[in-house]
Amino acid sequence: MSDKALLTIDGNSYELPIITGTEQEKAIDISKLRDQSGYVTLDTGFKNTGATKSAITFLDGENGILHYRGYPIEQLAKNSTFLEVAYLLIYGELPKEQTLLDFRHLISRHTLIHEDMKKFFDGFPSKSHPMGQLSALVGALSAFYPESLNPNATEEEENLTIVKLLAKMPTIVSWIYKKSLGHPVIYPRNNMNYVHNFLQMTFGQITEEIELDPVIVRAMHILLILHADHEQNCSTSTVRIVGSSNANLYASISAGISALWGPLHGGANQAVIEMLESIKNDGGDSAKWLAKAKDKNDPFRLMGFGHRVYKNFDPRAKIIKKACDDVLEKLGINDPVLDIAKQLEEAALNDPYFVERKLYPNVDFYSGIIYRALGFPTDMFTVLFALGRLPGWIAQWKEMRINKEPIGRPRQIYVGSTPRDYVDIEKR
Ligand code: SDX
Repeated sequence: MSDKALLTIDGNSYELPIITGTEQEKAIDISKLRDQSGYVTLDTGFKNTGATKSAITFLDGENGILHYRGYPIEQLAKNSTFLEVAYLLIYGELPKEQTLLDFRHLISRHTLIHEDMKKFFDGFPSKSHPMGQLSALVGALSAFYPESLNPNATEEEENLTIVKLLAKMPTIVSWIYKKSLGHPVIYPRNNMNYVHNFLQMTFGQITEEIELDPVIVRAMHILLILHADHEQNCSTSTVRIVGSSNANLYASISAGISALWGPLHGGANQAVIEMLESIKNDGGDSAKWLAKAKDKNDPFRLMGFGHRVYKNFDPRAKIIKKACDDVLEKLGINDPVLDIAKQLEEAALNDPYFVERKLYPNVDFYSGIIYRALGFPTDMFTVLFALGRLPGWIAQWKEMRINKEPIGRPRQIYVGSTPRDYVDIEKR
């Protein structure tokens, strides 16, 4: 097996190293190409370009494989908890029991946010989108923890910044929801574990602890675990490139939240429910809407379908679809949009347009149906995606820093005007 690629341009040959990953993925290292040949490569949207070497998450899009630090997502979703998976992603190994207890205790010491941050919550219009609020609030943490701005922080100092963000995110997310209702916020209870505490702050009341159905708590763990990381997706690449300028963790994550907001990315889980509701209100005619999705003159796309990497199925969608059935059955909920979603999936999987383009349900297709069954409003769905993705973003940012990766600065091919002289305004 060759470890070099040979590129020939205008009679000149250039040897380029071939990189092989631990799962036998192959890449041509072009980092010296421009120095050698004067050429750069062009790959709009980075569909064929690797940005880094990472040891965190492995995806195999052809075979629907997703591993966090080598552990199959199916096993983690079945056996693990969200905080344990967060530890695994950030620190690289499954924690021993005492390590996890210490980690949980450390997190519990930092769940409060500065009281002055309440002024930010009060400043948002009551119906402003939660993702805009989340991005602003997470970025604002750097104002309250200026020590996080030091790019030369010790490992211990950097870890405290990481722990503070992990600990405060559920508080911020739940307070955004409570403020949207005009309800008083609920303070974290440090005797509760991460997910239970989040649900208590979100759905509980000030005076008493919420009675949580174990089905709901387990479903929340599964959803957060499934969203925890996904290698170099749009928002994670944003976190890494912002962090590569030595911007602090809060600013980097705030940027990632903004990238996730887009309906082509994490915002799809909200767009899916809105789409399913439209189809239901339009009479539930799946065939009509599939035709719209296939019509190039129609801007409508089948939200929750398709993926840049997965070309057979998204393993997360399979797990979430099963959890959908379980949770709705156990909660005695009959959500008509679930039937519409299943009809759409069935029809699309037998439609040449979708089959030829390898378009299958992705993580966002069914997740909103569970979030809704758990009691969350539609505009909070992408915020929940961000809550789940936080440990992955942190792990990727930390890896980029540990590997001392250079500031991200892609090249381009200029296609604008060639040089021309200035013309006085009266002569234009
Ligand atoms: C996430 O990258 C990640 O890992 C992301 C994510 C993560 O965990 O971080 O998995 C989370 O973002 C999941 C994706 C959520 N987005 C959606 O569900 C939005 C709907 N899907 C798409 O817009 C689209 O499929 C993307 C954005 C997901 C992928 O886009 P690509 O890879 O750039 O593919 P493309 O737009 O070039 O589409 C290829 C063809 C085109 O048709 P042709 O021009 O070849 O004729 O497929 C068509 C597209 O028109 N197509 C769709 C479609 N998705 C692609 N047609 C109808 N409905 C769709 N949903």
